[in-house]
Amino acid sequence: QSQLPPSYTCRPIQRSDYHSGFLDVLRVLTTVGDVSEAQWNKRYDWMSARSDEYFLLCILNGEDKIVGTGTLVVERKFIHNLGIVGHIEDIAVAKDQQGKKLGLRIIQALDFVAEKVGCYKSILDCSEANEGFYVKCGFKRAGLEMAHYY
Ligand code: ACO
Repeated sequence: QSQLPPSYTCRPIQRSDYHSGFLDVLRVLTTVGDVSEAQWNKRYDWMSARSDEYFLLCILNGEDKIVGTGTLVVERKFIHNLGIVGHIEDIAVAKDQQGKKLGLRIIQALDFVAEKVGCYKSILDCSEANEGFYVKCGFKRAGLEMAHYY
């Protein structure tokens, strides 16, 4: 397991993280939009009520600012003897914090949770540009993503 830099910590997100830079970190990944605090609270509460399904982690620097995040969504199936699959989503590390193994640490933490809750595998979609990162995290190429936008 890789270590966090001194004074950095990793924990599940909290309702108050609207004010800790969580959404700004996600902006390195994609469009976030203007999410108000009320909207954040509503979505946070919805996820919180499904705490055996949604696992959102963050990494904070020594000044309690969120500098990295990642999500595990746990899917319960009928196939494979009621198998459970982890979906790794929305991995993001602040631009000025990349290359410090924070991404790797987030994946390791999510992998730990996935195994603990009984997932037989975790899967994710990424761009070709990020393949090397996930290979370093122990993933291998499997399948092809298809999308249908509405
Ligand atoms: N290609 C190849 N290797 C890489 C890449 C890459 N794009 N990025 C990191 N690595 C390597 C590092 O060099 C390091 O290798 P080493 O152990 O030999 O030194 C190893 O992977 C671990 O790197 P970290 O330092 O943990 O990576 P970082 O903290 O910078 O996080 C991340 C990587 C998450 C991709 C970050 O660059 C980022 O936030 N990018 C923008 C958002 C993004 O694209 N997120 C992923 C979307 S896919 C999804 O969410 C499922």
